[in-house]
Amino acid sequence: MIKKGFKFIDLFCGIGGFHQALTSLGGKCVFASDIDLDCRKTYQKNYGLEPFGDITKINEADIPSHDVLCGGFPCQSFSKAGKRLGFEDETKGTLFFDICRIISFHKPKYVLLENVRNLASHDHGNTWKVIHGKLSSLGYNLLPEPIIFSPHYIGVPQHRERFYIMCVRKDIGNVEPFVFDKTTIKPCSIEDILQDDNEIENIKDYKISEDLVSLIDLWNEFIQKIQVKKLPGFPIWADRLCDLDVNEDLNQYPLWKQNFILKNNELYKGNKVFIDEWLGRAKQNPLFFGSKAKLEWQAGQTNHPDIWKQIFQLRPSGIRVKVNTYFPALVAIVQTSIVGVRKRFLTPKECSRLQSFPETFIPDAKEPQAYKQFGNAVNVECVKIIAKHMFNNHGSI
Ligand SMILES: C[S@@+](CC[C@H](N)C(=O)[O-])C[C@H]1O[C@@H](n2cnc3c(N)ncnc32)[C@H](O)[C@@H]1O
Repeated sequence: MIKKGFKFIDLFCGIGGFHQALTSLGGKCVFASDIDLDCRKTYQKNYGLEPFGDITKINEADIPSHDVLCGGFPCQSFSKAGKRLGFEDETKGTLFFDICRIISFHKPKYVLLENVRNLASHDHGNTWKVIHGKLSSLGYNLLPEPIIFSPHYIGVPQHRERFYIMCVRKDIGNVEPFVFDKTTIKPCSIEDILQDDNEIENIKDYKISEDLVSLIDLWNEFIQKIQVKKLPGFPIWADRLCDLDVNEDLNQYPLWKQNFILKNNELYKGNKVFIDEWLGRAKQNPLFFGSKAKLEWQAGQTNHPDIWKQIFQLRPSGIRVKVNTYFPALVAIVQTSIVGVRKRFLTPKECSRLQSFPETFIPDAKEPQAYKQFGNAVNVECVKIIAKHMFNNHGSI
């Protein structure tokens, strides 16, 4: 059982993924901080609490005492700081150092941190080694490895594997191993978070352009009509759907690129008549150049491939088609995935649902900011599960 009214602080608070989760578990936020002004405004509007700014400028003694410290901190390398400072304190000069000085002063009962999945391998494992060593030396028990968790494990259609670090003050107890039974994973459906088009204001702002629709129609025709034993797992590059140029020395390219060029050439040789005719039409579409003249089919093998039934993204490397069970992780840039069946981008409301924010949450009115903030946020339901695990093993906090 968690004692209602426990106090927590929300560092690097963003728009409050931790705030949502810990409040719903009965906690009360007594301090928040984020350097980003727009995040602070969104936070204030939703929770009635104005976050402080840059944490590096805040004296730990000015932060109220608390039971739980939480934060999804930016991942930085420690080795340079360590070398520069002669290993006096490897964390100095990083934002993790600021977390440590607050922990060291307040000694909260629990610390819950979140980071990107590659934290363990970051800087050849040194980053995690330093974090683990530092938190232990501050008097906390933590698992030897951070745990990985993602909304798509619990039926929320977003693939967002993140590392969570649960720390329990040594006088309180251990962190029990977190065993998540993956056989219980609920199947995801993107339909669970989609809004009906007719309930979206300014729907045309989210729809893709007619030229893009025509371009996707063209690529759809391509993927449906090519004669192949298996749909290509390599990127299809329109400018390489041709005979090899005998004057071109392929050795000038790295091996992976040579391989893709040869595979595209094989594809061309097996479908010459269709591809020549298709290219003639495709070149008339004003968008058919650069990254949009490339297709990355990553939606598996099927007898009836159809881009419009999948999710796709316009990436610098090409149009990437993914299977429609869940979305790739939201990121802190404006352009979101395109929902094939709707021929449109995700709305801020849908991004909010992908991060399990409640329906009552008011996003930033400036849409680019709203997308960025959701892309940076932590998934609320994931935090709830991890935090409950951390608390429940020790009775009341
Ligand atoms: C990964 S996001 C955390 C998002 C948050 N967990 C949420 O649910 O919205 C990291 C946040 O750290 C903030 N940040 C970066 N440097 C900071 C600093 N020096 N002081 C306070 N906040 C900082 C960024 O503005 C960003 O919002």
